[in-house]
Parts: sequence; structure tokens; C-alpha cells
Amino acid sequence: QLNPPKPLVLKEPDLEVDDGKKKVTIFFGTQTGTAEGFAKALAEEAKARYEKATFKIVDLDDYAADDDEYEEKMKKESLAFFFLATYGDGEPTDNAARFYKWFTEGKERGEWLQNLKYGVFGLGNRQYEHFNKVAKVVDEILTEQGAKRIVPLGLGDDDQCMEDDFTAWRELVWPELDQLLRDEDGVTTVSTPYTAAVLEYRVVFYAPEDAPLEDKKWSNANGHAIFDAQHPCRSNVAVKKELHTPASDRSCTHLEFDIAGTGLSYETGDHVGVYCENLDEVVDEALGLLGLSPDTYFSIHTDKEDGTPLGGSSLPPPFPPCTLRTALARYADLLSSPKKSALIALAAHASDPTEADRLRHLASPAGKDEYAQWIVSNQRSLLEVMAEFPSARLPLGVFFAAVAPRLQPRYYSISSSPRMAPSRIHVTCALVYEKTPAGRIHKGVCSTWMKNAVPLEKSQDCSWAPIFVRQSNFKLPSDTKVPIIMIGPGTGLAPFRGFLQERLALKEAGAELGPSVLFFGCRNRQMDYIYEDELNNFVNSGALSELVVAFSREGPTKEYVQHKMMEKASDIWDMISQGAFLYVCGDAKGMARDVHRTLHTILQEQGSLHSSKAESMVKNLQTSGRSPPPLLL
Ligand code: 2AM
Repeated sequence: QLNPPKPLVLKEPDLEVDDGKKKVTIFFGTQTGTAEGFAKALAEEAKARYEKATFKIVDLDDYAADDDEYEEKMKKESLAFFFLATYGDGEPTDNAARFYKWFTEGKERGEWLQNLKYGVFGLGNRQYEHFNKVAKVVDEILTEQGAKRIVPLGLGDDDQCMEDDFTAWRELVWPELDQLLRDEDGVTTVSTPYTAAVLEYRVVFYAPEDAPLEDKKWSNANGHAIFDAQHPCRSNVAVKKELHTPASDRSCTHLEFDIAGTGLSYETGDHVGVYCENLDEVVDEALGLLGLSPDTYFSIHTDKEDGTPLGGSSLPPPFPPCTLRTALARYADLLSSPKKSALIALAAHASDPTEADRLRHLASPAGKDEYAQWIVSNQRSLLEVMAEFPSARLPLGVFFAAVAPRLQPRYYSISSSPRMAPSRIHVTCALVYEKTPAGRIHKGVCSTWMKNAVPLEKSQDCSWAPIFVRQSNFKLPSDTKVPIIMIGPGTGLAPFRGFLQERLALKEAGAELGPSVLFFGCRNRQMDYIYEDELNNFVNSGALSELVVAFSREGPTKEYVQHKMMEKASDIWDMISQGAFLYVCGDAKGMARDVHRTLHTILQEQGSLHSSKAESMVKNLQTSGRSPPPLLL
């Protein structure tokens, strides 16, 4: 029998070789860990398929210390994948920010990446205007710089099912890697067909007397000059107040974090990230499901005992040595719906074959609709799902690596100004307390923690949390005379309280203030008119020219902020004609869209403009920086 002819392959630039193995770099820009998880999943399976290649997972922030190093190292890459999430207003994640700035600002470099073959997978949400902007921009510049795209750009959509998008994209990657990573004989080293790799951390258990001290990360003086999501600052809860009256059936907490002497600072309009803890009742439930003692003291590791990386990466452990109770309280997201990869990990540890089959089915393409219905639509939490499959007993290393994502910080608009409250960060937080379609009472992790917090004014043994500040685009105009229009129903008021504190402080310092109007909305004056006295004081002191409040549940018909805007149409037109800045913030569903429509109508009617002219005026407000994108809480 004749050998089949070898396919004719054009000579391509060789892939960089490391220890005789072809080298593949997998970069990730992650905020909540999903991009990092995909990077690991790709590396895991690729390692099983291509024994003669090495796969390195790299956090974009750790890749290089400065721009020169980025350039020097990137030039040497020959095959790379990028997992890039896009946030809010088309922004990169914190850990990709430095890379993104360097990469996008260096567009003029010419074709300096001709040796690079690459694939990009973006993580975004189609509900947002700048869907997957970061991935699209990086992909485009890579091509411009001469790099060769080997798979189409992947556009993961969190509004649907990001994991399915990733799975589909990954199937496009293998045929290309089969070509590129063949071994010397030209034989493709495809090993196993795809089964989702079950990741597992190495776990070390300690006797109580040998337990290492907890990491400095969570102690007060953590020695970091800059605080960020990776290096939060421990701060005490100084003050806590309920803002709704007892007549309200809901709750909204005013909380003040004490940052005196910590080195942490903020600007008006910034956000605060808060690492809170799961409720005791939730932790107890998780302990029961894992069947382990809360005092189990352990650490987890991403490398083997001999120091070689597990799963292609030598990333630092995701959290410091601690007891299982602490780990479940601080680091495990127990109430979000489990990802499909978590179901596969559960299936791998289910002793009852019927349970294992059902879990695999839910995670499979055939079970797509059932997963969307039974898990996503019903908001079934990880703990609820684990309770449904009691035969699945998870080792800790699997639970923390593949099943429970890390508990993420929650972000809040800071509702104070450092000019008024330099040593405090104020937060205004509505309690999340709702019944899910499956009948579970869902208590929001952070809002419940805040509602239950014990402030320093009540006890020396007060509540505290690791926090950090994130800058925002939500800023007052630098010229205090420029008019401003603020629209913030409900807790959308938060950043405007900060704005008004700032204006009051500026006025007291002698600044001349331009006109300002605040549209606030709530249900009923007697229940949820938050900060009423303060708002009236801002008017009396001249920090706010006009306060307009819409009460949605007082009269026979609903009155919303946008209805009040229509009543003030000519004032709004005048202010915008004079160069006003306009801000929208809130959590009411559809509010930002309705306000946008109303603004459009006002401009059209007041300016006698054609609809398209009014629209371009609204767009112009946004692009000129006079109206940042609405803050959706
Ligand atoms: P409702 O709950 O009575 O409908 C703060 O949440 C306020 O915003 C409440 O008074 C709420 O009214 C109102 N709200 C709800 N949906 C809104 C929308 N689409 N536009 C403006 N306000 C809205």
C-alpha cells in the first residue's frame, strides 16, 4: 500500500521553541475570573492534545513591568491567544488596562508583529453599546501590526451563554493547532476527544498548631502604596443608618467606611469595591453539602509539590491559608448559578450514575434549553444545585478550582465627596431581597452584609471589609460655572449626593457655581425619600439650584423622573444650550432608556429640530464628554 502523499505546506515562520517544545502563550484580561477560567480550560485541553508544546497562561498585568518590556516580549511571541473582557463603557479589565493603553497608543509601530499567529476571544454583553470593544480593538490592531489571525474573533455574549460561545470558538481552534503543533514527523498529535477538563487545585491540610498565619493581604497595614482589587485596604464600618422609614417594606442602608490613616483616598464620583462575606446561614449550608468541618485548616496551590505548575500555569494561590469557614465566607461565590463546567466537575464526582448522567446532560449541547430554564431562568444557586445531586461529593481542590467561582467585590457609587468627608467613604445601598422563580429567598450578598453591619459607633468590635477605590468617568465639569443636570431615581441619587457635597464645599471656599438641577424619584415621600433633609439643605445653601422629585406611588398615576423632565423641558433646553453637563444614574429597569428618549423629545420639541438632528445632539453630548454613559446600578 502506498503512503498517502504528504500535504504541501507553505513554509511559515517557525514557532518559538522552549526546551525543544513549541511555545504557546495564553493571555487573559479578567475581572470576575471567567476569562482566566477560559484561558485555563484552553490550556488544559491543549496540553492533553499536544504533548510537544508548552502552554503558558499569563495575566496581562504580570507580563511586563513597563511599556518597553511589553514591546520586547511581545515581539518574541510566535503563537498566542488572548482572552479579553470588556467592561462598562467599552473599557478593559483592571489587569488588562496597562497592556491595552500601551497597545492601542502604539498603533503607529508598523508591521512589527509579523512572527505572531494569534486568536482572540472576547467576553462581553450585547446589552451594552460597546459590545466586546476591547477584544475587537486588540484583534484589529494585531492584524494591522502584521500578526496573522488563525481563528475568527470570538465574541462571547454574557447575555446569552458565554460558555457555549467559548465552546464553539474552541472547536475552531483545534484544526489550526493541529496544523501548527504537529510533531517532527509531521504526525498530528491529537490525543483525546474533547471532554471538559476538570481542574483541581492541590490542597494542603494543617493541624491547628501548624496553621500558617493568614496572608497580609487582609490585614490593616498591607504595605501597599496603591490599593486595588488585588490589594484591598481593610477598613472599619464607622456609621450605619437605615434610610427608609419603618413604613417602607424595603430597606436602603447608608454606610460609612473609615479610611482615616489608611492611605486610601478617592475623588467625587469614584466607585468603591467592597469584598463582603457570605451570610453564616449560607456558609453553614455549604459546609453541610461539602461534609467537612468548618475548622479544617488548609491552603490551596496551583503548582505541584515539586514546584512545577498545575494546569499549565504557575499563578499565585487565589487565597491565603485559612479555615474552611473563612474560605467559604470570603472567597466562594455560593449563590450564583453554576457554570456548565461546574456541572461537569460535579458529574465527575457523583457516585450515583443517574445523577452524573443528568448533570452531564445539563452541561451538554442537548441540554442547552434545560440548563437555560432549570438553572438560569430559575436563578438556581450553586448550593441549590449541589443539594439536588447529593451523591456528588467534591474534594476541596475541585470545589475551589472548578465549581465555586471566587466571590467578587461589589461596586458602589461613592455617595460622599472627599472635600466634605476626607476620611470616610459613604455608600448608599438598596437591600436585595427577592424570591426566585424556584421559590428560594435570595438575599443579596453585599447589601445584606451592609444591612447587618455593626458600626464602630455601636461597638469596638465593629464590622470591617477589604475595600478599594475604582476611578470613574462620572465627574463634575472642571469649571464650576458650567450648568449641570442630574437624573437619579432611587439609589441613583448616590453619586449626586457626592456631587452636591462637593459643590457645597466649593461654594463655601468661595467658588462661583453655575445652575444645577436634580431630578430624583422615589415611591412615596413617607417611605423612601432618602436624604430628604440633606437635599433641602443643598437647595437652601445654594449648592443645588432646583430639586425636582417624582413620587411614583402617591397619586393615581405613576410619576417618574422623565415625566418631571418633560414639565421642565424649556429649562433643560436652556441649560443644554448653555453647555450643561448631563448625568443619569439609577437601577430602575429601563429608566436610562426612557430618560434618553425623553431627552430626545425635549431637544426635538424645544429646538424645533428634526429627529435625527436631536439624536445627533444627544450623541454629541456623549462624545464631547458632557454626558458620560448612564451609570446602571
Ligand atoms: P416604581 O417602583 O413605582 O415603578 C426608584 O426606584 C424609583 O424609580 C421608583 O419610584 C420607581 O417607581 C421608579 N422607576 C421604575 N421604573 C422606572 C423607569 N423606567 N423610569 C423612571 N423611573 C422608574
